[in-house]
Amino acid sequence: MATLELKKVNKTFGSGTNAVQALTEIDFEANENELTLILGPSGSGKSTLLTILGGLQTPTNGDIILNSASMSSLNNREREEIRLHQIGFVLQRYSLVPFLKVQDQFLLVNKVKPNNNLNSSEFDKILNQLGIKSLLNKYPNQLSGGQSQRVAIARALYTNPKIILADEPTAALDTDRVEVVGKLLQSIAHEQNKAIVTVTHDLRLKKFADHVYELVDGKLSKSY
Ligand SMILES: Nc1ncnc2c1ncn2[C@@H]1O[C@H](COP(=O)(O)OP(=O)(O)OP(=O)(O)O)[C@@H](O)[C@H]1O
Ligand SMILES: [Mg+2]
Repeated sequence: MATLELKKVNKTFGSGTNAVQALTEIDFEANENELTLILGPSGSGKSTLLTILGGLQTPTNGDIILNSASMSSLNNREREEIRLHQIGFVLQRYSLVPFLKVQDQFLLVNKVKPNNNLNSSEFDKILNQLGIKSLLNKYPNQLSGGQSQRVAIARALYTNPKIILADEPTAALDTDRVEVVGKLLQSIAHEQNKAIVTVTHDLRLKKFADHVYELVDGKLSKSY
């Protein structure tokens, strides 16, 4: 039984002569314990697919199935609850709050979701693994692209979600950091029973993945 599935999902932006078919008949599944990679070039529909998977936007048609239940049967409030408690996002455009220091980004999460977040030793371990402990007192505009990206990864992990959806989490990272992040995502999936889906054009992540899909012009095929 897959944790998160898409069945015959289509997404069209605009209408008439301006219509862009971003996704065509997408069938996809992500399972607990696995890191699933979706590879595709710029404009192939990766961010669209990931945001639909996480319920941040709705498909034109087709179904999203979470833990065997169709998401289309839920109202907005129920969908928000699921996003808050079960899904961690690492979005493509860094989603840090500009006027909060790094440490306060996490305190903000505590306010929105007070319970079942990482305890201080688990959190400390993640900060060390990602090499961002020394950045806790900085503001987002004092961080490099790669540093912001690592903070965004830590923030997604902080709520201890069952499902982690990451959009180009390694785009701004050098090869050493890609190794660290790839191994971290893989070990979190395998050791903590999580379903992790990463969309990327970064082939350096391929060796860490349990399954790889390819997305070309909005059409998805499974490589393994
Ligand atoms: N809100 C929108 N309105 C209209 N068209 C959109 C919208 N969002 C995405 N598109 C179009 O859908 C297609 C897929 O876009 P998407 O952002 O999903 O690609 P991507 O694979 O994430 O690209 P990148 O690697 O550059 O981030 C593109 O042709 C894009 O122009
Ligand atoms: Mg994108």
